[in-house]
Amino acid sequence: MSKTTNNLKDAFAGESQANRKYLAFAKKADAEGYHQVAKLFRAAAESETIHALYHFNVMKGVSSTADNLKAAMEGEAYEHTTMYPGFIAEAEKEGMKDAVIGFKAANAVEIIHDKKFGEAAVAVKAGKDQPTRKLYVCPICGNVHEDEPPAACAICGAKGNTWKEIL
Ligand code: FE2
Ligand code: FE2
Ligand code: FE2
Repeated sequence: MSKTTNNLKDAFAGESQANRKYLAFAKKADAEGYHQVAKLFRAAAESETIHALYHFNVMKGVSSTADNLKAAMEGEAYEHTTMYPGFIAEAEKEGMKDAVIGFKAANAVEIIHDKKFGEAAVAVKAGKDQPTRKLYVCPICGNVHEDEPPAACAICGAKGNTWKEIL
């Protein structure tokens, strides 16, 4: 791998993380009453997304939707078969309860992502989009549900009326 290929990977990872970090910082600034500082964090978060996507395109990270779904499924499968099971075992051994809860919830959602991407891959392989349906995401664990939110999240128990519709 050339130095720049490696640097693009690192830059993409760093900028992606900075985006989420700044959004979390913006939320805190709003909660503390620093609304203009919150806005600055959100502006910087937006900038980092632009940087991340530029690097990702240079890396040729985006392919056809059929190939992107394959890549997405590989990533999800790695997470729920290898990464999270290992992380959960280590967190349990170290008694880091909050980490265990978060890893387990994420692991359960990655299984659902894997399955849903698989369903999408079948449609795209046939050259079709999926049928139009509503999609909702649980605000606590990230669980995904079609058509309407469940009464309570099957993974974390969050009430359906708190779920966010994805447009
Ligand atoms: Fe940046
Ligand atoms: Fe996922
Ligand atoms: Fe949930």
